[in-house]
Amino acid sequence: MKQRIEELREQIHKYNYQYHVLDKPTIPDSEYDKLLHELIALEKAYPQYDDPSSPTRKIGGSVSSQFHKVIHKRAMLSLGNVFSYEELRVWAYKITSIYPKVEFCVECKIDGLAMSVTYLNGSFHQAVTRGDGTEGEDVTNNVVTIKSIPLKIPYLKELEVRGEVYMPKKSFVKTNQARVLNGEEEFANPRNAAAGSIRQLDSKVVASRGLDAFWYYLPQGLSLNQPTHYDSLMWLKALGFKINPLTKLCSSIEDVVSYIEELSLLREQLDYEIDGVVIKVNDFTLQGTLGYTEKAPKWAVAYKFPAVEVVTTLEDIFLTVGRTGKITPNAKLTPVKVAGTTVSYATLHNEDFIKERDIRIFDKVVIRKAGEIIPEVVSSIKDMRSEQCVPYVFSLQCPTCNHQLVRYPDEAAHYCINNDCPSRIVEAIAHFASRDAMNIDGLGIKRVEQFYQLGFIKTFADIYFLHRYRNEIIEIPKFGLKSYENLIQAIEKSKENSLERLLFGLGIRQVGAKASKILAETFHFMQTIMEVNQEDLSGIRDIGPITSKSIVEFFKDSNNRKLIDTFHECGLNMQYKGEAKKTSIFTNKTVVVTGTLSSWSRKEITDFLYSMGANVSGSVSKKTDYLIYGKDSGSKLDKAMQLNVKTLSEEEFLKVINDA
Ligand code: IVH
Repeated sequence: MKQRIEELREQIHKYNYQYHVLDKPTIPDSEYDKLLHELIALEKAYPQYDDPSSPTRKIGGSVSSQFHKVIHKRAMLSLGNVFSYEELRVWAYKITSIYPKVEFCVECKIDGLAMSVTYLNGSFHQAVTRGDGTEGEDVTNNVVTIKSIPLKIPYLKELEVRGEVYMPKKSFVKTNQARVLNGEEEFANPRNAAAGSIRQLDSKVVASRGLDAFWYYLPQGLSLNQPTHYDSLMWLKALGFKINPLTKLCSSIEDVVSYIEELSLLREQLDYEIDGVVIKVNDFTLQGTLGYTEKAPKWAVAYKFPAVEVVTTLEDIFLTVGRTGKITPNAKLTPVKVAGTTVSYATLHNEDFIKERDIRIFDKVVIRKAGEIIPEVVSSIKDMRSEQCVPYVFSLQCPTCNHQLVRYPDEAAHYCINNDCPSRIVEAIAHFASRDAMNIDGLGIKRVEQFYQLGFIKTFADIYFLHRYRNEIIEIPKFGLKSYENLIQAIEKSKENSLERLLFGLGIRQVGAKASKILAETFHFMQTIMEVNQEDLSGIRDIGPITSKSIVEFFKDSNNRKLIDTFHECGLNMQYKGEAKKTSIFTNKTVVVTGTLSSWSRKEITDFLYSMGANVSGSVSKKTDYLIYGKDSGSKLDKAMQLNVKTLSEEEFLKVINDA
């Protein structure tokens, strides 16, 4: 019987591939169903021959209680964006000016969710979502239900492939129709629908949603003997993966631009949503040379299709309060479709924005939406204005706490300066728990708001005492014990975070994710950062005088110091856990570069010096430790000599780093 089971599996895998990947079925559906049902029956009768990569898994059936977290072996980065051909040409020029013969691989930017899948011994092993790029969720049971995904491949070593799971436009319409019938809320767009489906606990439901996937990246390409990205895609195609058929090689950036034009015309007719075009340097070796920034590869970029504008009615204007107290006026709109999503709200930025454009309630307004960016009101149509429209008067009171708003000189925004304003507190706590800060799953803005109103959380530190309200929380409708336990687990886990996350979560003015990382990398311990003065901070890259002042003031405040003490008592990690900066003779030294270097661009050498721990400065002073000079270096070299600053020619510099 084992033989028949295996025979059936092999046949069905083949028919699946012909139908779902090649789009060329070779047997009638009825015949296929017969084989499938025979296999289902046999698997039921002989459970000892169970195989997780059996084609019957595509029907779904397993129900999960939650998705386990998985750390990616290699980080899943995102892409840098460009919004015009000009910006695209600038990106390309940085590469072609050094490597004139570059070939680009041009692909559709599929609007779905990124997925990493692994195979072991030729069988499907695991599917993991991108998550925050470092850690995602194991959604294997759901991804195997996607019909076009091969569960068996003719390659036996470990293999990781990345791509995009998406919901075809047809499936989207069907899914939403079914939701309306069931009295459920419709998905706003195919991307949300795909993401929502992949997070379904019942894989049968996922199987019914008609998801699909395109594969666009082989992370170990070079070590799998693939010289170029395009070669790797063709290899994946030969293994049975679905590759987007509109992928094309271009040998100049102008060819890329004309191909983008072609794709934008095709866009509407495609059965899947694309929100732009991805351009990749084709040669894997060159990709390696170009490398990565912290978040994205330098060898690829996403060209985003231009914004779309539509007209709708502005029904109301209301103010919201951010965590810093910043007030944003928002437009409530008559819902309208823009580029596939329904827009009901848009930003009006600030009082001046409304005044300058004379935007009034009940006006017909032009709305613009570009990519992921929050939609904005561009203008109001004065000709269509009715008499009832009166100029909008900006309220000078906080919509939440009624405190008088202030507007600082040179700033367009109003602020609520009441530190006890409930909106500010809720926003600040939600920021603390957010993905790039303490990353506490299950503690989004809505939940924080609820816990705040119930009196469970009033400060950041209260998060770590939430277990005291266990009995009350598990009684909250639709919450329950399981969600409570998951939340407490996420809170516990956040205690282990590396220091930069805590620093960012604190919401110190001017200190974003990047500055937090730099502070953590440089000083390693919270205790050290709490004691630094402006002088200590002055030489650090990207930390200017305003940021320094804000950091020092924050830690001078006794309430903030008490908060850190409480965190300490709760067992939060206060150390940097990432890689230390490389140390070299340039570590903590101030270095100036002047003149033209023959083998480095200015940016390359600056990045390199930063990576060696140097502070790179633009002008020579007594504080300068080294001046690196190239051809045609003028006054800076003279000044360095006068001041007795150590100078290094390009050759000497290369020798120093090679010796080191
Ligand atoms: S390449 C390091 N190619 O766009 C390689 N991404 O905005 C990074 N995406 O996270 C990905 N279509 O989810 C690549 N043809 C394509 C893509 C694509 C869609 C998504 C992907 C990525 C996001 C970045």
